[in-house]
Amino acid sequence: MLHLITYPHPTLRYPAKPIARVDAQLRSMVDEMFHIMYEQRGVGLAANQVNLPIRLFVANPSGEKDTGPELVFINPVIKRATGSSEAEEGCLSLPGVNANVKRNKSVRVNAYGIDGREIDLEIDGFLARIVQHELDHLDGVLFIDRISEENRKQIIDDLMGFEATFDMKRKAGLIGSDQQLLDERAEWEAKYC
Ligand code: NI
Repeated sequence: MLHLITYPHPTLRYPAKPIARVDAQLRSMVDEMFHIMYEQRGVGLAANQVNLPIRLFVANPSGEKDTGPELVFINPVIKRATGSSEAEEGCLSLPGVNANVKRNKSVRVNAYGIDGREIDLEIDGFLARIVQHELDHLDGVLFIDRISEENRKQIIDDLMGFEATFDMKRKAGLIGSDQQLLDERAEWEAKYC
């Protein structure tokens, strides 16, 4: 059973490891990730947002089940990035926080699908923004790392609120210690990387 984790959970800052094998459990976890993404009204979800330290994300630019493409990117790499565009972003790991982020306008992304087939896509617009946001997650980067100092001041209270909630949950034993989280991640890595 996967659960969405929120800022400042340490796994969100952990660079995910390349995937070396896909099995039935991983396929069912990908289904679960789509389920969580739709439930939370998101358009993309990276594996480390559900505490899996592996290089995979799912996306559906429509944000709705049965509409638009359901995309799975395993070991994604951006091969070429051009142009620039700025737009507001949010993140399921920072619910309620939005800010403008500058991204490349178009990207060429190379990855593998859940069926093992190679993906080589030239994309732009909203999907290109999603891919860059999710790929950042896999590197331990959050969209709040890419916003202006001025915009950061506007969300600093929200961030402090998230930090206080996290500390409380941890003290209540609802979130493992750093060592426990490290052990959990090592287990997933041993299985899939
Ligand atoms: Ni996000």
